[in-house]
Amino acid sequence: MKSVLSGRKIVLGISGGIAAYKATYIVRLLVKAGAVVKVIMTPSARDFVTPLTLSTLSKNPVLSHFTNEEDENDLWNNHVELGLWADLLLIAPATANTMSKMVNGAIDNLLLATYCSAKCPVYFAPAMDLDMYKHPSTQANFEKLTSYGNIMIPAGDGELASGLSGKGRLAEPHEIIEFIEQDIQSKLPLSGKACLITAGPTYEAIDPVRFIGNHSSGKMGASIAIELANQGAQVQLIMGPSAVSTEHHLINRVDVKTAQQMYDAVHKIVHEVDVAIFSAAVSDYRPLNPVDQKIKKKSETLSIELVKNPDILASVGVMKNKPFLVGFALETENEMEHAFAKAEKKQTDLLVLNSMRDKGAGFGVDTNKITIIDKDKNIFRFETKLKTEVAKDIVNEIIKRIL
Ligand code: CTP
Repeated sequence: MKSVLSGRKIVLGISGGIAAYKATYIVRLLVKAGAVVKVIMTPSARDFVTPLTLSTLSKNPVLSHFTNEEDENDLWNNHVELGLWADLLLIAPATANTMSKMVNGAIDNLLLATYCSAKCPVYFAPAMDLDMYKHPSTQANFEKLTSYGNIMIPAGDGELASGLSGKGRLAEPHEIIEFIEQDIQSKLPLSGKACLITAGPTYEAIDPVRFIGNHSSGKMGASIAIELANQGAQVQLIMGPSAVSTEHHLINRVDVKTAQQMYDAVHKIVHEVDVAIFSAAVSDYRPLNPVDQKIKKKSETLSIELVKNPDILASVGVMKNKPFLVGFALETENEMEHAFAKAEKKQTDLLVLNSMRDKGAGFGVDTNKITIIDKDKNIFRFETKLKTEVAKDIVNEIIKRIL
């Protein structure tokens, strides 16, 4: 399961208190979640935990000073660059002293200089003894930092290093990570939205060993499902036979085989979703009478009578309170004409057109070239891109129109 922290550049600032030892676990969990971590320690934090431990865990040099004393050129550690590099600054533990300096803009170490230069979200996890925690100046500093837009990760209750018991314990490392993940998640553009997507081919049985199918791999739909989830949506993916993986904690995948099963799965939940995307290559027809036993090759010719499958997209298009509707059209000729006709007939809000004539578009390949037609018949053309990038373009066009 991929964390929202995966690929994020995180500066972890450690200030000097006994809870600094827990920072080693925080680094470990951040790296495990796929984040790139750079650690800055205040000079006094180095008395509590060694930079060697933290650099080993973070796989990056640990910074503490404005210049790099180990470098013979005495290179300057650029706090502005660090502040800009970071997607997220986490100060844990944040001591009362460091918070007081953060409030007042006092800059007497690299961590504070980076804090004041950072343009990214700043999280701070306080840790101190009970009486310090309760002191009005500390409480006022919590409020001031929050008013600056910094996000406080509440301290825990329990046994403190002093022997006292109460509020002031650094939140547990896994709680800190979960807090940040949930906070990021809740701020994603599609957070709280439910999306449905159909993908892949359908297989229609002729006999127990043969079927009518098509070359759809399900890659395009899978990429869209993952992108929707990355943007915070709860995704119901209804997938025809496909080996493509769609692991994500926000994706609920239902595997189906036939058009009728896909239709049933869609109508079970379509009234509950905000967005419905139909990227599946549904078989338009199915054998009228699939047989129970394997068909033997007795005659020179064989006719199989086919009957039309329900049009899933069109059936949602005519619903009264329908979700925002996105259809696909795969064409081999007169692309624009067919696409406009499909958009109108199936009442889509957006129609994504693929032409089999375009190089790098269509089934089985990792790239695609799309044109999007909106409800007002505006046309948006895109370059040939990886399907993962095409998915971002499609999801962006949806976000622009539903938020
Ligand atoms: N679609 C669907 N159910 C079907 C057939 C198509 O939901 N039984 C959806 C597809 O997922 C796609 C759109 O309708 O979003 C257009 O599919 P396409 O196969 O291009 O068009 P058809 O309506 O089947 O028309 P034709 O095959 O004649 O081009």
